[in-house]
Amino acid sequence: MNDKFKAIVLNQSGEKFTREVKTLDKSFFKTGEVLIKVDYSGLNYKDALILNNGAKLVKEYPHIPGVDFSGKVIESGNSNFKSGDNVVVTGCRVGEIYPGGFSQIAKVKSEFLIKIPKEISNKNAMTLGTAGFTSLLCAFAIKAREELLLGEKVKDVLVTGASGGVGSIAVMILSKLGYNVSAVTGKKDQSDYLKTLGAKHVLDRKDFEGEPRVLGKGLWDGVVDTVGGSILANAISQTKHSGIVAACGNAANIKLNTTVMPFIIRGVKLWGIDSVTISKQRREFVWSQVSSLVDFKLLEKNVKVVNLEELLNIFPEMLNSKTSGRILVDLNK
Ligand SMILES: NC(=O)c1ccc[n+]([C@@H]2O[C@H](COP(=O)([O-])OP(=O)(O)OC[C@H]3O[C@@H](n4cnc5c(N)ncnc54)[C@H](OP(=O)(O)O)[C@@H]3O)[C@@H](O)[C@H]2O)c1
Repeated sequence: MNDKFKAIVLNQSGEKFTREVKTLDKSFFKTGEVLIKVDYSGLNYKDALILNNGAKLVKEYPHIPGVDFSGKVIESGNSNFKSGDNVVVTGCRVGEIYPGGFSQIAKVKSEFLIKIPKEISNKNAMTLGTAGFTSLLCAFAIKAREELLLGEKVKDVLVTGASGGVGSIAVMILSKLGYNVSAVTGKKDQSDYLKTLGAKHVLDRKDFEGEPRVLGKGLWDGVVDTVGGSILANAISQTKHSGIVAACGNAANIKLNTTVMPFIIRGVKLWGIDSVTISKQRREFVWSQVSSLVDFKLLEKNVKVVNLEELLNIFPEMLNSKTSGRILVDLNK
């Protein structure tokens, strides 16, 4: 193997923050025992924040960002992984405090790695990536209502930030589970795509941005919220009795201004989702469910593939809500 590889490197010196594609060698890696040839990484909202200014998540520079990747093991200091294994990493603070996936070579701790099920290609593993993994966690949270209510079925669900990575995959998975999905988006031109993913109704984001009623009309058995702020507050106030709201994102706002009334009058449950530090056992379970719940053919239509140089131009668009679907980084491109 050639010891040199290309990666995006972030640097900070005083007020000056830089990002550039550089050629590195393996001495860059200070931790980890499994070396991986990265095939694909993905652009997630958190990556865009980190590429912008480190987002107070990066503690040491120079740093390689990229919170998820898929690839092939090339050297392993752990007996659970051998050369040639196809593996995926999401979260585990890779790309934040550990070097990440915007790199042709990565080196990580073995406990971060999940073997990709045989029926899923390395490209498809990143078509999901952190976004799809998080969507699955949200979908399982909503489905849990059926167990909590002893078999009463979930019918109507709402997805906010629906054209984004997490949102669009959530729309597809929830409709595959048989639910009536209403998709909230600020992008009218994504309406047809959201319908092909399975959305029954597409709703205008503006209708969720006003001051919420203390208790609105109960419309949703479950909500996947990727944006926070007043949109989440409106969704909570419109949730039916014993509904579950899975809150995973803050693309609009980190604040949540609500009242206790939906919780104490309707028994609404606000279920926080963290995809980063959950156990390896749960990560393996989620990946084992992918082939029965994900239609990659549908997702492919809204996947854009870029190289490292193109990534540096496209990430600001994500911060301005100008992107949709998944953006994959091809490390061989
Ligand atoms: N908890 C976790 O473990 C976890 C894991 C992954 C992601 N996340 C979070 O989930 C969120 C979505 O991530 P992503 O990768 O899917 O990002 P993304 O692809 O950029 O999607 C975010 C979507 O939110 C909507 N949006 C953006 N800015 C907005 C604004 N100012 N007001 C209202 N809506 C806005 C847009 O959808 P529309 O135009 O369709 O409305 C956008 O496409 C992020 O906050 C991310 O940090 C959390």
